[in-house]
Amino acid sequence: MKKVLESEFQKEYKKLPQKSFFAPGRLNMIGEHIDYNGGLVMPCAITMGTYLLLAPNSDHLFRINSANFEESVEIPLASSYIKSGESWYNYPLGVIHFMMQDKCNLDGLDLLYYGNIPIGSGLSSSASIELVTAFALNDFFSLGYSLLELVLLSQRVENKFIGVSSGIMDQFAVAFGQKDKALLLNCNNLEYAVIDSHLDPYLLAIINTNKPRKLSASKYNERVGECALALKALQEELDLTYLCDIDSVAFQQYQYLITSETVRRRAQHVIEESERVKKAATALAGRDLTGFGKLMYESHDSLKMLYEVSGNELDAIVDYALTDKNVIGARMTGAGFGGCAIALVAKEGFQRFSAGLTVYYAAKIGYSPTIYSSEIGRGVCTWLSALPEIDHPDD
Ligand code: GLA
Repeated sequence: MKKVLESEFQKEYKKLPQKSFFAPGRLNMIGEHIDYNGGLVMPCAITMGTYLLLAPNSDHLFRINSANFEESVEIPLASSYIKSGESWYNYPLGVIHFMMQDKCNLDGLDLLYYGNIPIGSGLSSSASIELVTAFALNDFFSLGYSLLELVLLSQRVENKFIGVSSGIMDQFAVAFGQKDKALLLNCNNLEYAVIDSHLDPYLLAIINTNKPRKLSASKYNERVGECALALKALQEELDLTYLCDIDSVAFQQYQYLITSETVRRRAQHVIEESERVKKAATALAGRDLTGFGKLMYESHDSLKMLYEVSGNELDAIVDYALTDKNVIGARMTGAGFGGCAIALVAKEGFQRFSAGLTVYYAAKIGYSPTIYSSEIGRGVCTWLSALPEIDHPDD
């Protein structure tokens, strides 16, 4: 299948690519809206992702094309770049921008991207594009960044170039993901452990709400702001760097410092969710999948009631899951406001679950969800033949 993209590349640039790379998307098993509050999260890489083929050019130009989108760009080497509208190529542009700011010795490149992560699904197609670009440029020009530095640079792209105040989780999972493992990441100090995630006899289903995502960046930034307010209020009495520096017992005692009821509920979610991640890690490591599933439901409930980032579409999926005996846990994953939910579904009941959910969801929401049975894949890498086969680019 690599050949298909190589011939796309040849069609576009009249030469063969010199190197190819892959970065996955990610899903978060549990620990939502925690990363920018310095707590625990449990993401993993998925097998869907972004492929990047490249070759140098002698024109000192970056030519950026995608097999998914019409929009492309051709820009000369410069010391800085600015975001251009809402185009997909802002992500590679942002990476190039920060590498130039770091005085990296880059030169002209012809780039072709292809991704099979559904766009706007909350599976981090953006972090995937950022990381595949950062990793590829670092490799091709021997820039000497460590993997963690590439993660931090990609997060800077999201925060300062794109304008979303997101945490580190997505980029970290896309870079450090390992096959069949979840990462238990402490966003306070970026220490992490890997947890075996053999889910047998269950599988992890990804359910895309297919809801067109609007306003999600501004709503996301609003939640980040509310958490900052909660932290500031608690800091009047407590010595904290992050909201997750206190536990739920201390929170009970000091929550009176937060005068806004809304802000208090946001903080409650954050502090309890981080504790749920710790319990979930113990459950997963001990292969207590039922216990893990229960925590997934609790997480969803908190995101719906306290953090208010769910919505009818995500709730419909979880409501259905609760009625289906093939399912032992379900929750929204990612930022929310649409995007995807995940569910732990008995392998042998997966077809029945998919069929039943599709009927229920379509009747309630008015259109169908897309349901995948997902595998946990590896992090960003050079694209070798060992990577999974991909579909033909559909344009
Ligand atoms: C988005 C952000 C992440 C994280 C999640 C919510 O995916 O990019 O940093 O905050 O939302 O957990």
